Amino acid sequence: MNVRFAKENELDRINELRKQVNDIHVSGKSEVFKPGFSNELQDFIKAIWNDPEQEIVVAESGETICGYAVLHHINKPENPFMYERDYLDIDEFGVDEAFRRQGVASAMIDFIREYALQRGFHRIELNMWEFNQYALEFYDAAGFKTYRRYMEMDI
Ligand SMILES: CC(C)(COP(=O)(O)OP(=O)(O)OC[C@H]1O[C@@H](n2cnc3c(N)ncnc32)[C@H](O)[C@@H]1OP(=O)(O)O)[C@@H](O)C(=O)NCCC(=O)NCCS
Repeated sequence: MNVRFAKENELDRINELRKQVNDIHVSGKSEVFKPGFSNELQDFIKAIWNDPEQEIVVAESGETICGYAVLHHINKPENPFMYERDYLDIDEFGVDEAFRRQGVASAMIDFIREYALQRGFHRIELNMWEFNQYALEFYDAAGFKTYRRYMEMDI
């Protein structure tokens, strides 16, 4: 298995993986996520591809793209409350269901850490939905720590 940056002709396959992630979000939080995988969502990958502040990473097993991640360089200038924040955000992350529990996601995190260090980042962030306990177990195992929470109350 090899991890590298994506090529433009791989965006359709990456969209197949993005649909799997979207379906998980739809079934876990149906009041928030729209079902299906609209043309608009499919086209969004092209906006990501064309944004100089974003990168798409893929894992390939043989000829098959089996995992992907969208990386986003975030810079939040200093304000009266906070110091400047400059970090790499993992906006999207997923492994094809046929390839899970084989170390694909771990290999992608290793690649992303190495890339972040080379670019001079000292922080990687991501956010995730609380229902997604498998993802939480993975991120825990990969060494991420919770530093902030979103809370809700149905009324
Ligand atoms: C979460 C996800 C990315 C993990 O990918 P993966 O390639 O299967 O993960 P790895 O094989 O590298 O797992 C490494 C370790 O993480 C933990 N882990 C991974 N998946 C787990 C699961 N389903 N349940 C419990 N622990 C899990 C284990 O400790 C595992 O080590 P082990 O297999 O030796 O026990 C994958 O399940 C996925 O794509 N899920 C659907 C999409 C998703 O939720 N994306 C995140 C959105 S924020």
